Amino acid sequence: MRGRFIVLEGIDGAGKSTLSNALTERLSAFTDVVATAEPSDGYVGDALRRAGSEDGHPLLESLLFVADRAHHTHAMEGWLEEGKTVICDRYYASTMAYQTASLGEEFRPWLREMNDKVIIRPDLTLLLDIDPDRGMGRVNSRGEKSKFEKTEYLREVRRQYLLLAEEDGFHIIDASQGPDEVLEEALVHIRGLLELI
Ligand code: TYD
Repeated sequence: MRGRFIVLEGIDGAGKSTLSNALTERLSAFTDVVATAEPSDGYVGDALRRAGSEDGHPLLESLLFVADRAHHTHAMEGWLEEGKTVICDRYYASTMAYQTASLGEEFRPWLREMNDKVIIRPDLTLLLDIDPDRGMGRVNSRGEKSKFEKTEYLREVRRQYLLLAEEDGFHIIDASQGPDEVLEEALVHIRGLLELI
């Protein structure tokens, strides 16, 4: 049987990687799990990370994120065909939210069209929703730098995510809760999907 494709989304500091680790641990008892992320560890993902600290060129970044996704989706397609449960930390909604916030609303249809050409539909997308002030607090505590502009930017990213959640039927989880509560809420949705009790 084809595996299930689960995507975790949310702004920086929402707790996606913590949830991904916890889910992998829990689900591995029942099924083969592959935890993966975008930007991927492929060569386009490497290019994105290399460009990361420079002042972004948002059009170029958009193209690279989608190119990386095309490459990564091909790999995920293989895992799903092998029957594995794939947990992906960020997918097309990251480009829709972050790059629309960078480029402006008028670029949204273009971003949507490009993504539609390369993606496979997730079986479930969980949006970890958090106020950027709290999210950035967590980012700070990981030793990364914070900026007022960054918080304002993430406010717009969050707004874009919430719009998309409604359009594409994502499940929204309040990520200001503790990690255990977030995990339990995620499991409620995933149990149904994987037909686990
Ligand atoms: P990520 O590796 O998830 O960062 P972190 O683990 O530090 O939260 O993603 C790196 C950055 O890339 C993050 O700020 C979000 C951004 N990003 C986009 O802007 N568009 C995209 O399509 C993706 C996948 C990520």
